[in-house]
Amino acid sequence: MGRLNDKIAIVTGGASGLGAGIAQRFVEEGALTIITDINPEGEAVAKRLGAEFLTQDVSAESSWVDTIDEVVSRFGRLDVLVNNAGIFSSSPVDETQLEDWQRVMDVNLTGVFLGCKHAVRAMKKNTGLTRGSIVNLSSVVGLRGQLGGAAYGASKGGVRLLTKTVALENAAISIRCNSIHPGIIDTPILDPIFAAVDDPAALRRQIEQKLPIGYMGDPARDIGNMAVFLATDESIYITGAEMVVDGGMTIGLP
Ligand SMILES: NC(=O)c1ccc[n+]([C@@H]2O[C@H](COP(=O)([O-])OP(=O)(O)OC[C@H]3O[C@@H](n4cnc5c(N)ncnc54)[C@H](O)[C@@H]3O)[C@@H](O)[C@H]2O)c1
Repeated sequence: MGRLNDKIAIVTGGASGLGAGIAQRFVEEGALTIITDINPEGEAVAKRLGAEFLTQDVSAESSWVDTIDEVVSRFGRLDVLVNNAGIFSSSPVDETQLEDWQRVMDVNLTGVFLGCKHAVRAMKKNTGLTRGSIVNLSSVVGLRGQLGGAAYGASKGGVRLLTKTVALENAAISIRCNSIHPGIIDTPILDPIFAAVDDPAALRRQIEQKLPIGYMGDPARDIGNMAVFLATDESIYITGAEMVVDGGMTIGLP
């Protein structure tokens, strides 16, 4: 028996990287999983994994209304939302363009706010001991500063505290909300970082040497398994928590 049998789950940004890894583990554990993404290639990913696919722009409220309406009308309810979709940016604060800052906030923070807002509304209609679980993807960069991380770090720090507010407001009605703080996980979000240097393999080795565990994380094994745990009733007493999954990256000073 799968640990997520009978659960209806949305994973945003599921066309790639962590979202695809989380969706893979959800399907393996028996959840009826709906991948959403702005990238239509998510359709093929969903097909390969045995999930459903809906096109969605997480930064647009109308897109959230449409997505949740469709999921509830087709599948009956929403049990789990993973707010995973996100974009990366890196530039010193004095060189960060307002449009870049705004775009990062729109996707990484407003997108998570809208997801929480509309998921809570849908989950309030559920009955039973556990009404829903929301899992928000923050980052280790949401816990501490990072060079070049003005927009990205601020958005991820916002996700951390938004999570705690949603958790507090809904704890008594059994809707839980937790954040995951990945370290460095091997996904296409890192592509621009490697593309910007002459020797990407050397940069990869340098990064891995700095990680206490000695290697980068894997989307399905490391973040997917944490998301499964937070989505199941195994974590019924955990809400408003920061789950750091970083191979020891934040243990001490670099
Ligand atoms: N990979 C890492 O090392 C790492 C570390 C910490 C946190 N994270 C966070 O994990 C999440 C997933 O990152 P990833 O590494 O898998 O990145 P990724 O680039 O591989 O995947 C992100 C997905 O989000 C989708 N997306 C972007 N904008 C969207 C929008 N407006 N609406 C809907 N979908 C949209 C993209 O199309 C893509 O499929 C992000 O929130 C990221 O900030 C990643």
